[in-house]
Amino acid sequence: MNGKFIVIEGIDNAGKGTQSTLLTQHLRENGLKVVLTKEPTNGILGGLSKAALNKEINISGRALQLLFCADRAHHIETEIEPMMSKGLTVICDRYFFSTLAYGFVSGINYKWLRSVNINFRKPDLGIYLDLDPKVSLSRMPKQDGIQLFDTIQKISKVRQAYISISKEFHLKKVDANGSVSEVSQKINKIVDKFLNINEKKSYAN
Ligand SMILES: Nc1ncnc2c1ncn2[C@@H]1O[C@H](COP(=O)(O)OP(=O)(O)OP(=O)(O)O)[C@@H](O)[C@H]1O
Ligand SMILES: [Mg+2]
Repeated sequence: MNGKFIVIEGIDNAGKGTQSTLLTQHLRENGLKVVLTKEPTNGILGGLSKAALNKEINISGRALQLLFCADRAHHIETEIEPMMSKGLTVICDRYFFSTLAYGFVSGINYKWLRSVNINFRKPDLGIYLDLDPKVSLSRMPKQDGIQLFDTIQKISKVRQAYISISKEFHLKKVDANGSVSEVSQKINKIVDKFLNINEKKSYAN
């Protein structure tokens, strides 16, 4: 049987990396085979996207969005789908909702972004970590260089975009302002219900 595809989304510093790692551990403790992955990937296309984000190379607005999508297509075809067909649960830190949110806020037409991304596989479960933009800023390391989306106004716009995208794509919204363990418990509850983890346990007992 195919494994499930779970996506974690949210603004910068929402806790995606922290929480996807904790969720991976939690599911492994429950006997599932899990692979944790992320976008942009660590491959050549993801590397180009990250270099553009860091302004090391200059790539035009829509070309950059298509680069994220090329990385995504490669990621789906070479990692996500092969892992799922082996029965592994795939947890992905950022997915096409990031392109929709950040691409829109960077001034790209939403319908265009949507049309490029809409045919990618949808996650079986999408979790949106909703964080106050001020908290996001407070979690930023001081020595961080100026990036594209580092001002509170921009972070707030990305959050607004995420809120509407979450509704459109039925992502489960989780309040990410609490402690790491509070947020983790909320996520585990949603994922356990989705994967019937408690049910399986009670069968075993
Ligand atoms: N619930 C939390 N409370 C306080 N600090 C947190 C919480 N979750 C994460 N952090 C801290 O905030 C910072 C960003 O966390 P993390 O890297 O998990 O976020 P992210 O969403 O993956 O960020 P990015 O979008 O930059 O990749 C880290 O220093 C992490 O330790
Ligand atoms: Mg991260």
